[in-house]
Amino acid sequence: MSASLIVHELSVSYGNVAAVLGASIRMEQGSITSIVGANGAGKSSLLNGIMGIAGAQGRVLLGGEAVQNITTEARVRKGMCLVPETRDLFGSMSVHDNLRLGAYARAVSAAAVEDDVRSVCRRFPRLGERLAQHADTLSGGERQMLALGRALMAKPKVLLLDEPSLGLAPLIVREILRFVEELRDAGLSILLVEQNAKAALAISDYAYVMEVGSIVLEGEAQALMDDPRVAEKYLGAGHH
Ligand SMILES: Nc1ncnc2c1ncn2[C@@H]1O[C@H](COP(=O)(O)OP(=O)(O)OP(=O)(O)O)[C@@H](O)[C@H]1O
Ligand SMILES: [Mg+2]
Repeated sequence: MSASLIVHELSVSYGNVAAVLGASIRMEQGSITSIVGANGAGKSSLLNGIMGIAGAQGRVLLGGEAVQNITTEARVRKGMCLVPETRDLFGSMSVHDNLRLGAYARAVSAAAVEDDVRSVCRRFPRLGERLAQHADTLSGGERQMLALGRALMAKPKVLLLDEPSLGLAPLIVREILRFVEELRDAGLSILLVEQNAKAALAISDYAYVMEVGSIVLEGEAQALMDDPRVAEKYLGAGHH
């Protein structure tokens, strides 16, 4: 296996508040890597630092190429894409236009973009039925599908997902996570941040545990699930 994303000693701070302290991560191609941790541990800050949305120190290598000094848009063009915790949809624009905007960083024809919209709608039929609807009238699950669909329009190699199950009913959570597995099986590398550690570890190949800005534990997802330190803190009582 080869690494698709390497994060080396990345630090993120806001003024004098340090949110991430020298975190290092390695993601294999075609795998799901998850980061679990409590509220405020620095998970979103780490993703934002990797994308260049938050100012960061350290190195980020995408397919072996250093990207820590280029803009977020340039990182998107090279194949990284983030679905943020807030989803960041354009509420007063249609589903269709939100999807089209996902392709903004690619130099392709309008016809090719429409082909890709159709392929996203094959994956998410519910979006296809609602192309003309404003994004802010979608249900929570549909909004997450749109956020994922829009990210796919960028044709990423590495997809960063910040709490894709946040606020969704269990049935929709399963649907979204099954879809994340399908993307992995199609060859994407996925960095998944989840508060629902049990569900995340169940579909992950490898995982990192973050506490107050630092990676404190890492390993094969199955091994972490069996680790009493993880079970006690993150998997809820009675896991074993
Ligand atoms: N824009 C910001 N300005 C100042 N401080 C921030 C900012 N964003 C995050 N922080 C701080 O950085 C720390 C880490 O926050 P972060 O959002 O990365 O955690 P998280 O692990 O994603 O938490 P959650 O599970 O609640 O989403 C927190 O103390 C938070 O208050
Ligand atoms: Mg967060």
